[in-house]
Amino acid sequence: MHVVLVAGARPNFMKIAPILAEMRKAREEGADIQYTLVHTGQHYDKNLSDHFFEDLGIPDPDFNLNVGSGSHARQTAAIMCAFEDVLAGLTADLVMVVGDVNSTLACSITAKKLGIKVAHVEAGLRSRDLSMPEEINRMVTDSISDYFFTTSDQANRNLLNAGVVKERIFFVGNTMIDTLVRELPRIKPPDLLKHVDISRYVLVTIHRPSNVDDTDLLFNTLDSLSQLLSDKDIVFPVHPRTWKSLTGYSIPKNLHLCDPLRYHEFLYLVKNAWLVITDSGGIQEETTYLRVPCITLRENTERPETVTIGSNHLVGNNMILLKELIDELRSGNWKVGVIPPKWEGRAAERIVSSLMGIDNF
Ligand code: UD1
Repeated sequence: MHVVLVAGARPNFMKIAPILAEMRKAREEGADIQYTLVHTGQHYDKNLSDHFFEDLGIPDPDFNLNVGSGSHARQTAAIMCAFEDVLAGLTADLVMVVGDVNSTLACSITAKKLGIKVAHVEAGLRSRDLSMPEEINRMVTDSISDYFFTTSDQANRNLLNAGVVKERIFFVGNTMIDTLVRELPRIKPPDLLKHVDISRYVLVTIHRPSNVDDTDLLFNTLDSLSQLLSDKDIVFPVHPRTWKSLTGYSIPKNLHLCDPLRYHEFLYLVKNAWLVITDSGGIQEETTYLRVPCITLRENTERPETVTIGSNHLVGNNMILLKELIDELRSGNWKVGVIPPKWEGRAAERIVSSLMGIDNF
């Protein structure tokens, strides 16, 4: 079986690392599995890409499509053209895509149109919010995938409701949590914590177009955070997209900005934070696993279990609700979270053993 595994953007790298490791292990143990790693180059900055390969022990990709940035249509089209050329030179049995970024969408369509089967890891997530590019990517990818590897019961239900037959759905757990579990012993404090009170900092990440492209909204959000948390240090690793919107912003004294951090440093910040405030998908999952209070600056989430049983609350851009939640946390009343089923670090193992068990591939 020849699997072409695709990754393109930062959150993909944590998801492919354990899958590659399991495929390598299976091959060493004599399984009939061969793999090719394709990096689309959607993310290309060292601190969004290369550092993750180094830190997570991901081998150099066999192909780098080097597509870079662009509008959604241009970026998606560039990935499709380049990936089609790569597939033309291989005999692939399966293309495996992860997550919900433009690379996921582009490579699943390209493979399917060449008659190659598609497996989607992290299938079935739905925010029901079609203003998010990721929701479109999820829906299209799931509508043409052959095999669905899921992280939650809700994802299973979403797929069944969409007409996917249950034999093609594999509830395996969460590969991002696999990486977290594996790497937790290697986390380390970033240098900037030397200037911050480690016992009372808040970690913030904001990068979604809906939160950062409107600079008035972004400035207001950051001013509100600074005021509501005036007794705390706020650590804010800034995505390149967000940096562009910060031009002209006068940074409050308790807000500490830095470039995106390496995985082990970032995970250290998540694990030890008093509170995390984010609009990321993956960080909602990581805080749930680590039972760290999380407030998400979004109206909805494709990861509802982080709210229903985890440590996460959604506030959108409602700063009154945000204040109420901060007061709740101050009074020691934050809900006690539960780790969702199968988020224990063995998802990739289940993916590879499920693959090996599929007849008539
Ligand atoms: C992408 C994903 C998003 C994910 C995020 C994580 C899509 C639709 N979005 O968003 O789901 O949460 O990655 O980071 O796929 N840029 C750089 N260096 C890079 C990459 C991007 O400077 O290495 C800048 C460019 O100006 C680019 C902008 O960031 O235009 C946005 O990059 P893009 O890949 O389009 O989307 P992200 O916002 O990173």
